[in-house]
Amino acid sequence: MPIVAVTRVIPEAGLRLLRDAAEIRLWQEELPPDAEALAALLQGCDGALTLLTDTIDGAVLDREPNLKVISNFAVGYDNVDVPAATARGVAVCNTPDVLTETTADFAWALLMAAARRVVEGADYVRAGKWQTWGPTLLLGRDLTGATLGIVGFGRIGREVAKRARGFEMRVLAFDAFPDERVARELGAELRPLDDLLRESDFVTLHVALTPETQQMIGARELDLMKPEAILVNAARGPVVDTDALVAALRDGVIGGAALDVTDPEPMPVDHPLVALPNALVVPHMASATVATRDRMAEVAARNLLAVLRGERPPHIVNPEVLERER
Ligand code: GLV
Repeated sequence: MPIVAVTRVIPEAGLRLLRDAAEIRLWQEELPPDAEALAALLQGCDGALTLLTDTIDGAVLDREPNLKVISNFAVGYDNVDVPAATARGVAVCNTPDVLTETTADFAWALLMAAARRVVEGADYVRAGKWQTWGPTLLLGRDLTGATLGIVGFGRIGREVAKRARGFEMRVLAFDAFPDERVARELGAELRPLDDLLRESDFVTLHVALTPETQQMIGARELDLMKPEAILVNAARGPVVDTDALVAALRDGVIGGAALDVTDPEPMPVDHPLVALPNALVVPHMASATVATRDRMAEVAARNLLAVLRGERPPHIVNPEVLERER
């Protein structure tokens, strides 16, 4: 039987599939293995089911010549050095599609929570401050009729756009590879990034983290936004320059931010961002529903097992490795 490392306890739906076909080495701790522990876990393995908290680079892969597949339990795979894996004939797989709607739903949860100050309201009640109904208490921003700017108009960005219809919003979209037809079908207007930032009341980020998108929202971009605009990030933390965002929120350059992802991650509790009343920070949980995490576990397990069986996995990032002998 092949030996497979699983770098954290994932839902049983995935573990069950693996158990039937492989010997599993499971990292049982709540926190991810550090580099040394990861190297020990991977030793002699044929495949690895990894999380976005595991750094898989050329040095890690060089130590394990048997490794044929890195199956990431996530749609994003910026934790994996894909060119290094490809150069070594290692397949890299991810879990797209099954989390698209769930993630789009959560971007909306963040957007609405920030616009209508839901968490501030709950904190207010918990702090015992609720004395009466107040005409000017916790006033937020309307979504209906507002302009929503979607940065990254791929699978998740498009689902976010669909949900905006119910709020009768004007939807602007930016994508590095714009698709006019899709935008038209979803009622979105394509815009260059700067124009989108200038015109939107809400800006939501849905790009993959790549060298091109690293810090694509910095001081200059925040400065282009409306002073009352709210920024939502359910993509990857490093897409936003954190120091610039803290300054923009503190100085009223923008109105607020709702962040599922941050840089660094986890965000330390004493970081200035956490203390800002107009920043809502949650712990990278946009795909966290029971059903979606089950599906992600299944897809990640199926991807991994397919590669080990010499079959084409459902979702592979570097399909060119399948065409080659190792
Ligand atoms: C989560 O962030 C994912 O990439 O699936």
